[in-house]
Amino acid sequence: MGWIARTSLASAVSRAGGLGIIETSSGETDNCQREISQMSALGLPFGVNLPIRFLKDDAMLRFVCASGVRFVTTSAGSPAKFIAPLKDAGITVYHAVPTVDAALKCVDAGIDGLVVEGGEGGGFKNPEQVSTLVLLQAIRARVPVPLVAAGGICDGRGMAAAFALGAEAVQMGTRFVSCAESPVHANYKNAIVQARETDTWVLNTRSSPCIRALKSQRTQAIHEKGLMPADSFVGLQAVYFGGDMEAAPALAGQTVGLIDEVLSAQQIIERTVAEFFEITSRLGGLATAHSFG
Ligand SMILES: Cc1cc2nc3c(=O)[nH]c(=O)nc-3n(C[C@H](O)[C@H](O)[C@H](O)COP(=O)(O)O)c2cc1C
Repeated sequence: MGWIARTSLASAVSRAGGLGIIETSSGETDNCQREISQMSALGLPFGVNLPIRFLKDDAMLRFVCASGVRFVTTSAGSPAKFIAPLKDAGITVYHAVPTVDAALKCVDAGIDGLVVEGGEGGGFKNPEQVSTLVLLQAIRARVPVPLVAAGGICDGRGMAAAFALGAEAVQMGTRFVSCAESPVHANYKNAIVQARETDTWVLNTRSSPCIRALKSQRTQAIHEKGLMPADSFVGLQAVYFGGDMEAAPALAGQTVGLIDEVLSAQQIIERTVAEFFEITSRLGGLATAHSFG
């Protein structure tokens, strides 16, 4: 998550028992390299995201291969050329996929695992939306590699559902944008907390990039026009750090309808894991009793 998933947030997630991911989608190569070095120095587990279409050149790839990073997610493009150099550097590589076809191609290319990202999620999207509920089942039926479920998950209920559908882990975006250690402005966090499940748009489906963002006057205009002006993201940092929610589309997923308070990374992960085990043991009890009573 460009500018957002830096050391303050990623280290809070990793300290709480998750796996914090450092972004490179901001395109700020020097700053991202510094963040990766800072995160490495903390001695916490972490990963790096390489969003292929946003990388200007192979500087980040080369840096990551030489930096001792152990885990990379690739996204937004074909990972075919990235897999061999990353794996040669001893890095485990997962790619984010929105369709079964993309999943099959990645497995053929030697990917270690997949982030299965349904249309509910925030950020850059495939214009042909498939929900996480369907996508996970469809991909689980066809591929043997580990799956991280993403899109629409922000708590233990979502995690239990994702595991039931075939995932081995979950990735949360919108939940952590609105977390206490997230560097974004309070207006962005509050907009997520106040929004209902119907308060996001999928925009620019007839062009590229297609995104899911919060409803606002600006995104309503894009929605009505059906196309997003090329300069739409110029004001992104004014949203993130200035709190001007009309300066650019504020990326967020449908979990805005489930998130009703700002929590710390520790609270999010502790509550998610506790709720996950509560639900799975209740379901385990159903299996033992062979009844729904
Ligand atoms: C503000 C924002 C920025 C994002 N940026 C990236 C990115 O740079 N690279 C990426 O692979 N995914 C990105 N995503 C997608 C998330 O990694 C995650 O898969 C998605 O948010 C999951 O859905 P959720 O929002 O329902 O949790 C972004 C999501 C948000 C909300």
